[in-house]
Amino acid sequence: MKILTTIQDIKKYAADCKAQGKTIGLVPTMGALHEGHLTLMRAAREKCDIVIASVFVNPTQFGPNEDYDAYPRQFTADCEKLESVNVDAVFHPEPSEMYPEGYCTYVNVDGDITHKLCGAQRPGHFRGVATVVTKLINLARADEAFFGQKDAQQVTVIRRFVEDLNINVHINMVPIAREDSGLARSSRNTYLSAEEKEAALVLSRSLKEAKTAFAQGETKVAALENIVKDEISKEPMASIDYVKAYAYPSLKPLTEVNEDTLLAIAVKIGKTRLIDNVILSA
Ligand code: PAJ
Repeated sequence: MKILTTIQDIKKYAADCKAQGKTIGLVPTMGALHEGHLTLMRAAREKCDIVIASVFVNPTQFGPNEDYDAYPRQFTADCEKLESVNVDAVFHPEPSEMYPEGYCTYVNVDGDITHKLCGAQRPGHFRGVATVVTKLINLARADEAFFGQKDAQQVTVIRRFVEDLNINVHINMVPIAREDSGLARSSRNTYLSAEEKEAALVLSRSLKEAKTAFAQGETKVAALENIVKDEISKEPMASIDYVKAYAYPSLKPLTEVNEDTLLAIAVKIGKTRLIDNVILSA
Protein backbone atom coordinates (compact mmCIF):
# COMPACT_ATOMS: atom_id res chain seq x y z
CA MET A 1 0.00 0.00 0.00
CA LYS A 2 1.30 3.43 -0.95
CA ILE A 3 1.53 6.03 1.81
CA LEU A 4 0.96 9.54 0.47
CA THR A 5 1.60 12.48 2.78
CA THR A 6 1.82 15.54 0.55
CA ILE A 7 -0.56 17.25 -1.87
CA GLN A 8 2.02 16.65 -4.58
CA ASP A 9 2.13 12.88 -3.78
CA ILE A 10 -1.60 12.36 -4.03
CA LYS A 11 -1.99 14.52 -7.14
CA LYS A 12 0.68 12.50 -8.91
CA TYR A 13 -0.76 9.18 -7.73
CA ALA A 14 -4.26 10.12 -8.91
CA ALA A 15 -2.94 11.43 -12.24
CA ASP A 16 -1.08 8.15 -12.87
CA CYS A 17 -4.23 6.11 -12.10
CA LYS A 18 -6.31 8.27 -14.41
CA ALA A 19 -3.72 7.99 -17.17
CA GLN A 20 -4.17 4.22 -16.98
CA GLY A 21 -7.94 4.67 -17.33
CA LYS A 22 -8.68 3.42 -13.81
CA THR A 23 -11.70 4.39 -11.71
CA ILE A 24 -10.86 5.81 -8.29
CA GLY A 25 -12.85 5.22 -5.08
CA LEU A 26 -12.18 7.49 -2.11
CA VAL A 27 -12.92 6.63 1.53
CA PRO A 28 -12.30 9.62 3.81
CA THR A 29 -11.70 8.84 7.51
CA MET A 30 -10.19 10.37 10.59
CA GLY A 31 -8.42 7.11 11.46
CA ALA A 32 -8.62 4.95 14.59
CA LEU A 33 -10.07 2.54 12.09
CA HIS A 34 -12.63 -0.11 13.02
CA GLU A 35 -14.90 -2.56 11.25
CA GLY A 36 -17.29 0.26 10.26
CA HIS A 37 -14.56 1.97 8.28
CA LEU A 38 -13.51 -1.35 6.76
CA THR A 39 -17.02 -1.99 5.40
CA LEU A 40 -16.64 1.27 3.47
CA MET A 41 -13.24 0.12 2.16
CA ARG A 42 -14.75 -3.19 1.01
CA ALA A 43 -17.62 -1.40 -0.75
CA ALA A 44 -15.07 0.79 -2.54
CA ARG A 45 -12.90 -2.24 -3.36
CA GLU A 46 -15.86 -3.91 -5.01
CA LYS A 47 -16.85 -0.95 -7.13
CA CYS A 48 -13.59 0.72 -8.13
CA ASP A 49 -10.25 -0.19 -9.74
CA ILE A 50 -8.26 1.86 -7.23
CA VAL A 51 -9.14 2.53 -3.58
CA ILE A 52 -7.66 5.57 -1.85
CA ALA A 53 -8.36 5.96 1.87
CA SER A 54 -7.57 9.11 3.78
CA VAL A 55 -6.63 9.26 7.44
CA PHE A 56 -6.77 12.86 8.60
CA VAL A 57 -8.09 14.24 11.87
CA ASN A 58 -9.52 17.38 10.32
CA PRO A 59 -9.06 20.35 12.67
CA THR A 60 -11.64 22.56 10.94
CA GLN A 61 -14.59 20.32 11.85
CA PHE A 62 -13.94 20.36 15.60
CA GLY A 63 -15.31 23.09 17.87
CA PRO A 64 -13.02 24.82 20.39
CA ASN A 65 -14.25 22.68 23.30
CA GLU A 66 -14.36 19.41 21.39
CA ASP A 67 -11.98 16.45 21.33
CA TYR A 68 -9.54 17.41 18.53
CA ASP A 69 -6.45 16.93 20.74
CA ALA A 70 -7.76 13.78 22.44
CA TYR A 71 -9.00 12.15 19.22
CA PRO A 72 -7.26 8.75 18.90
CA ARG A 73 -4.34 8.66 16.45
CA GLN A 74 -2.96 5.21 15.59
CA PHE A 75 -1.64 5.40 12.06
CA THR A 76 0.52 2.28 12.16
CA ALA A 77 -2.39 0.08 13.25
CA ASP A 78 -4.62 1.85 10.70
CA CYS A 79 -2.22 0.96 7.87
CA GLU A 80 -2.30 -2.72 8.83
CA LYS A 81 -6.10 -2.69 8.72
CA LEU A 82 -6.14 -0.90 5.37
CA GLU A 83 -3.70 -3.43 3.93
CA SER A 84 -5.89 -6.30 5.17
CA VAL A 85 -8.72 -5.08 2.90
CA ASN A 86 -6.43 -4.34 -0.05
CA VAL A 87 -6.58 -0.56 -0.08
CA ASP A 88 -4.16 0.72 -2.73
CA ALA A 89 -3.08 3.99 -1.14
CA VAL A 90 -3.61 6.00 2.01
CA PHE A 91 -3.40 9.77 2.15
CA HIS A 92 -2.19 10.93 5.55
CA PRO A 93 -1.26 14.64 5.45
CA GLU A 94 -0.21 16.98 8.25
CA PRO A 95 -2.77 19.72 9.05
CA SER A 96 -0.29 22.30 7.66
CA GLU A 97 -0.32 20.46 4.32
CA MET A 98 -4.11 20.76 4.05
CA TYR A 99 -4.37 24.23 5.61
CA PRO A 100 -1.12 26.07 4.90
CA GLU A 101 -0.44 29.61 5.98
CA GLY A 102 -2.87 31.98 4.26
CA TYR A 103 -5.57 29.34 3.83
CA CYS A 104 -8.97 31.06 3.87
CA THR A 105 -11.47 29.18 1.67
CA TYR A 106 -14.38 27.20 3.11
CA VAL A 107 -17.38 25.32 1.76
CA ASN A 108 -20.37 26.52 3.72
CA VAL A 109 -23.55 24.50 3.19
CA ASP A 110 -25.94 27.02 4.63
CA GLY A 111 -29.48 25.69 4.68
CA ASP A 112 -32.02 23.91 6.77
CA ILE A 113 -30.06 20.63 6.47
CA THR A 114 -27.06 22.04 8.37
CA HIS A 115 -29.01 23.96 11.02
CA LYS A 116 -30.45 20.94 12.83
CA LEU A 117 -29.26 17.75 14.60
CA CYS A 118 -25.45 17.78 14.78
CA GLY A 119 -25.36 21.10 12.86
CA ALA A 120 -27.27 22.85 15.64
CA GLN A 121 -25.12 21.31 18.35
CA ARG A 122 -21.73 21.66 16.68
CA PRO A 123 -21.51 25.11 15.02
CA GLY A 124 -19.04 25.10 12.13
CA HIS A 125 -18.81 21.31 12.10
CA PHE A 126 -20.33 20.75 8.67
CA ARG A 127 -18.39 23.71 7.22
CA GLY A 128 -15.21 21.88 8.21
CA VAL A 129 -16.50 18.56 6.87
CA ALA A 130 -17.65 20.05 3.55
CA THR A 131 -14.34 21.87 3.12
CA VAL A 132 -12.11 18.88 3.75
CA VAL A 133 -14.28 16.46 1.76
CA THR A 134 -14.23 18.86 -1.23
CA LYS A 135 -10.44 19.02 -1.04
CA LEU A 136 -10.10 15.23 -0.71
CA ILE A 137 -12.44 14.53 -3.66
CA ASN A 138 -10.47 17.00 -5.80
CA LEU A 139 -7.08 15.66 -4.75
CA ALA A 140 -7.99 12.00 -5.23
CA ARG A 141 -9.87 12.75 -8.48
CA ALA A 142 -12.47 10.38 -7.07
CA ASP A 143 -15.16 8.91 -9.30
CA GLU A 144 -16.87 7.36 -6.29
CA ALA A 145 -16.73 8.36 -2.62
CA PHE A 146 -17.99 6.24 0.27
CA PHE A 147 -19.59 7.38 3.54
CA GLY A 148 -21.40 5.62 6.38
CA GLN A 149 -25.08 5.86 7.33
CA LYS A 150 -23.73 6.20 10.89
CA ASP A 151 -23.38 9.90 9.97
CA ALA A 152 -26.56 10.12 7.91
CA GLN A 153 -26.79 13.93 8.12
CA GLN A 154 -23.19 14.15 6.89
CA VAL A 155 -24.23 12.16 3.80
CA THR A 156 -27.13 14.55 3.12
CA VAL A 157 -24.81 17.55 3.46
CA ILE A 158 -22.15 16.02 1.20
CA ARG A 159 -24.70 15.09 -1.47
CA ARG A 160 -26.04 18.66 -1.33
CA PHE A 161 -22.73 20.45 -1.95
CA VAL A 162 -21.64 17.88 -4.56
CA GLU A 163 -24.82 18.73 -6.47
CA ASP A 164 -24.70 22.48 -5.78
CA LEU A 165 -21.04 22.79 -6.82
CA ASN A 166 -21.38 20.39 -9.78
CA ILE A 167 -18.63 18.09 -8.53
CA ASN A 168 -18.20 14.99 -10.69
CA VAL A 169 -18.35 12.28 -8.05
CA HIS A 170 -20.94 9.73 -7.02
CA ILE A 171 -21.65 9.51 -3.29
CA ASN A 172 -22.31 6.03 -1.87
CA MET A 173 -23.90 5.43 1.53
CA VAL A 174 -22.99 2.21 3.40
CA PRO A 175 -25.13 0.75 6.27
CA ILE A 176 -24.08 1.05 9.94
CA ALA A 177 -21.66 -1.62 11.18
CA ARG A 178 -22.45 -2.70 14.74
CA GLU A 179 -20.81 -4.83 17.39
CA ASP A 180 -22.67 -8.05 18.28
CA SER A 181 -24.11 -6.15 21.26
CA GLY A 182 -25.78 -3.70 18.88
CA LEU A 183 -23.44 -0.81 19.69
CA ALA A 184 -22.65 1.17 16.54
CA ARG A 185 -18.92 1.00 15.89
CA SER A 186 -17.18 4.32 16.42
CA SER A 187 -13.65 5.59 16.97
CA ARG A 188 -15.04 7.41 20.02
CA ASN A 189 -16.01 4.07 21.65
CA THR A 190 -12.35 3.93 22.74
CA TYR A 191 -13.17 6.71 25.24
CA LEU A 192 -15.69 4.47 27.07
CA SER A 193 -14.92 2.56 30.26
CA ALA A 194 -16.30 -0.99 30.51
CA GLU A 195 -19.23 0.31 32.54
CA GLU A 196 -19.91 3.13 30.08
CA LYS A 197 -19.75 0.73 27.15
CA GLU A 198 -22.49 -1.31 28.79
CA ALA A 199 -24.53 1.86 29.38
CA ALA A 200 -24.00 2.88 25.73
CA LEU A 201 -26.06 -0.10 24.59
CA VAL A 202 -29.08 2.05 25.41
CA LEU A 203 -28.60 3.91 22.12
CA SER A 204 -29.15 0.94 19.81
CA ARG A 205 -31.67 -0.64 22.19
CA SER A 206 -33.87 2.47 22.22
CA LEU A 207 -33.79 2.73 18.42
CA LYS A 208 -34.65 -0.94 18.11
CA GLU A 209 -37.71 -0.40 20.31
CA ALA A 210 -38.89 2.43 18.09
CA LYS A 211 -38.26 0.31 15.01
CA THR A 212 -40.36 -2.51 16.48
CA ALA A 213 -43.18 -0.10 17.37
CA PHE A 214 -43.06 1.25 13.81
CA ALA A 215 -43.22 -2.30 12.41
CA GLN A 216 -46.28 -2.87 14.60
CA GLY A 217 -48.05 0.16 13.14
CA GLU A 218 -46.95 3.22 15.15
CA THR A 219 -46.36 5.96 12.59
CA LYS A 220 -46.60 9.12 14.72
CA VAL A 221 -43.19 10.80 14.87
CA ALA A 222 -43.76 12.20 18.37
CA ALA A 223 -44.70 8.76 19.71
CA LEU A 224 -41.65 7.13 18.13
CA GLU A 225 -39.35 9.86 19.50
CA ASN A 226 -40.89 9.35 22.95
CA ILE A 227 -40.25 5.61 22.89
CA VAL A 228 -36.55 6.36 22.34
CA LYS A 229 -36.46 9.13 24.97
CA ASP A 230 -38.20 6.95 27.58
CA GLU A 231 -35.76 4.10 27.09
CA ILE A 232 -32.71 6.39 27.27
CA SER A 233 -34.00 8.11 30.41
CA LYS A 234 -33.90 4.74 32.20
CA GLU A 235 -30.10 4.69 31.86
CA PRO A 236 -28.57 6.86 34.61
CA MET A 237 -25.23 7.35 32.78
CA ALA A 238 -26.94 8.68 29.65
CA SER A 239 -27.99 12.23 28.86
CA ILE A 240 -29.82 13.12 25.66
CA ASP A 241 -28.42 15.72 23.25
CA TYR A 242 -31.19 15.11 20.74
CA VAL A 243 -33.74 12.51 19.68
CA LYS A 244 -35.28 13.60 16.38
CA ALA A 245 -36.97 12.19 13.32
CA TYR A 246 -36.87 13.84 9.90
CA ALA A 247 -37.72 12.81 6.37
CA TYR A 248 -34.66 11.20 4.77
CA PRO A 249 -32.68 12.29 2.83
CA SER A 250 -34.33 15.75 2.73
CA LEU A 251 -34.29 16.21 6.55
CA LYS A 252 -37.65 18.00 6.25
CA PRO A 253 -39.79 17.98 9.41
CA LEU A 254 -42.68 15.54 9.50
CA THR A 255 -45.33 14.37 11.95
CA GLU A 256 -46.15 11.00 10.39
CA VAL A 257 -43.76 8.44 8.95
CA ASN A 258 -45.24 8.47 5.46
CA GLU A 259 -41.91 8.58 3.65
CA ASP A 260 -38.42 7.28 4.49
CA THR A 261 -37.59 8.71 7.89
CA LEU A 262 -34.33 9.13 9.76
CA LEU A 263 -34.66 8.63 13.50
CA ALA A 264 -31.40 10.07 14.80
CA ILE A 265 -30.02 10.38 18.31
CA ALA A 266 -27.03 11.93 20.03
CA VAL A 267 -26.47 10.87 23.62
CA LYS A 268 -23.71 11.59 26.10
CA ILE A 269 -22.48 8.61 28.06
CA GLY A 270 -20.40 10.22 30.77
CA LYS A 271 -18.30 12.73 28.80
CA THR A 272 -18.47 10.86 25.50
CA ARG A 273 -20.98 11.99 22.90
CA LEU A 274 -22.25 9.12 20.74
CA ILE A 275 -24.60 9.12 17.76
CA ASP A 276 -26.75 6.43 16.21
CA ASN A 277 -29.78 6.21 13.92
CA VAL A 278 -32.21 4.05 12.03
CA ILE A 279 -33.96 4.74 8.76
CA LEU A 280 -37.63 3.73 8.87
CA SER A 281 -38.80 2.81 5.37
CA ALA A 282 -42.38 3.85 4.72
P1 PAJ B 1 -14.90 9.19 10.68
O1 PAJ B 1 -15.69 9.45 11.89
O2 PAJ B 1 -13.53 8.59 10.80
O3 PAJ B 1 -15.75 8.30 9.73
C1 PAJ B 1 -15.29 7.99 8.43
C2 PAJ B 1 -16.42 7.33 7.69
O4 PAJ B 1 -16.73 6.08 8.32
C3 PAJ B 1 -17.72 8.17 7.71
O5 PAJ B 1 -18.31 8.14 6.43
C4 PAJ B 1 -18.55 7.47 8.74
O6 PAJ B 1 -19.95 7.61 8.54
C5 PAJ B 1 -18.12 6.02 8.53
N1 PAJ B 1 -18.42 5.21 9.71
C6 PAJ B 1 -18.03 5.44 10.99
N2 PAJ B 1 -18.55 4.49 11.81
C7 PAJ B 1 -19.30 3.67 11.03
C8 PAJ B 1 -20.09 2.50 11.28
N3 PAJ B 1 -20.23 2.00 12.50
N4 PAJ B 1 -20.70 1.91 10.23
C9 PAJ B 1 -20.57 2.41 8.97
N5 PAJ B 1 -19.83 3.51 8.67
C10 PAJ B 1 -19.20 4.13 9.68
O7 PAJ B 1 -16.87 11.02 9.32
C11 PAJ B 1 -15.71 11.38 9.40
O8 PAJ B 1 -14.69 10.57 9.87
C12 PAJ B 1 -15.24 12.74 8.94
O9 PAJ B 1 -16.28 13.67 9.15
C13 PAJ B 1 -14.76 12.79 7.47
C14 PAJ B 1 -15.89 12.43 6.49
C15 PAJ B 1 -13.57 11.83 7.26
C16 PAJ B 1 -14.29 14.22 7.13
O10 PAJ B 1 -13.24 14.61 7.95
